[in-house]
Amino acid sequence: MYAVVVIGAGAAGFMAAITAAKLGNKVVLIDHGHKTCEKIRISGGGRCNFTNVNAAPENYISQNPHFVKSALAQYSAQDFIDWVEDYGIEYHEKKLGQLFCNESSQQIINMLLSEADKYGVEFWQGVSVKSIEKEGDAFTLAYQNTTIKSRSVIIATGGLSIPATGTSDFGYRIARKFGLKIIEPKPALVPLKFSENFFLLNAGLSFHAQVSCSGKSFTENILFTHKGLSGPAILQISSYWQQGQEIIIDICPHIDLKQTLFDAKTKQGAKSLKTILKNITYPETLHSSSKTKLNRNNVFTQDFLETFPLLQEFLDLRLAEISKSDLEFIASGLNAWTLEPSTTEGFAKAEVTIGGLATEELDSKTMQVKKIPGLFFIGEVVDVTGWLGGYNFQWAWSSGYVAGYWSSLA
Ligand code: FDA
Repeated sequence: MYAVVVIGAGAAGFMAAITAAKLGNKVVLIDHGHKTCEKIRISGGGRCNFTNVNAAPENYISQNPHFVKSALAQYSAQDFIDWVEDYGIEYHEKKLGQLFCNESSQQIINMLLSEADKYGVEFWQGVSVKSIEKEGDAFTLAYQNTTIKSRSVIIATGGLSIPATGTSDFGYRIARKFGLKIIEPKPALVPLKFSENFFLLNAGLSFHAQVSCSGKSFTENILFTHKGLSGPAILQISSYWQQGQEIIIDICPHIDLKQTLFDAKTKQGAKSLKTILKNITYPETLHSSSKTKLNRNNVFTQDFLETFPLLQEFLDLRLAEISKSDLEFIASGLNAWTLEPSTTEGFAKAEVTIGGLATEELDSKTMQVKKIPGLFFIGEVVDVTGWLGGYNFQWAWSSGYVAGYWSSLA
């Protein structure tokens, strides 16, 4: 009889298994895949953005915005940073509190493997659990013509993004089997698609922009792709965007273009609109990493201006020839470019899944299912989605720690 069975050996599952084993429990960690922690390995461009020093409840999306508070308080970003430092893993802050390994994501995976081994966690790979039944105070799990029993079961099977990493809907199926509510899982932190040809024509171009939707705004880079838009600000807003909604992009948020064009009309009326726009530059104060990525000082490229639809009839006119109301129209087109995405690039390109097990089913202090003592859900399978920037791993560590701790006492 095990004290704790953890299903899903990703960030959350490892953290739960290690925490429970550290408290002296007999723990088995089961994964259906043969590769270890694939999502950690590929995360952060191979350097794992393992946490964010600013991780706080407002960086998470959930039907209950207060749900994450307890877990984040019980196991904070600093707790994980201390662990990383104990292992001598060197890291750096890239921007906005985002911490990355200096060398490789594999260092985080090695740390988890080493701790699991140190505390005697049994780690079974390539094992698919077929069913989970609750009988009395214990759970019976069936796999490969045999069964095991456990006092507690922790479901840590993650979401549906990037199927090649070994995703499955197991967690949602178990939740439904036990009569628990699911918030429809959808792709999030995902590029947006648009039907217009304009994006294809400018594929590869990036801007430092402000993107807004549903009352939320993010100011970071955006990137034109063959299918539409990507880049950090777009990925962030995709988590708030719903089908049928518009997004608003301020393509040069550091400048009030209406005022700039009005001033230019007064002082430089003989110049063409194209010349004035081409001379607009990014401010020196712009975060250095954004500038490096943009790799240019001027906001607008010639190609962009020549293909941006609403500029066409005005581009070669002198400012003196363009009325103030037309200048206002042009300025609002660039400072508040309003677009309706046709869809997202889906789970194949999403970093995370929004939705999942409804938080109302769980006790936020323990991550235990309220009506089924001994059953816990943690990590991405739960309806908690972090912003881009290390917040999702922090949720995996925090919720994993909490379930590992409280399942030991169950
Ligand atoms: P995770 O998906 O990591 O693990 C689930 C585990 O369950 C997997 O090992 C899977 O094989 C296993 N499993 C699934 N079904 C099973 C079944 N039926 N039986 C047994 N096992 C099963 N976040 C962040 O904070 N910083 C970052 O830098 C990045 N970067 C990043 C890049 C890319 C490309 C992606 C796709 C995602 C990120 N993320 C991220 C998000 C982050 O990777 C994600 O939120 C966490 O890995 C979620 O951790 P979990 O442990 O909940 O699930």
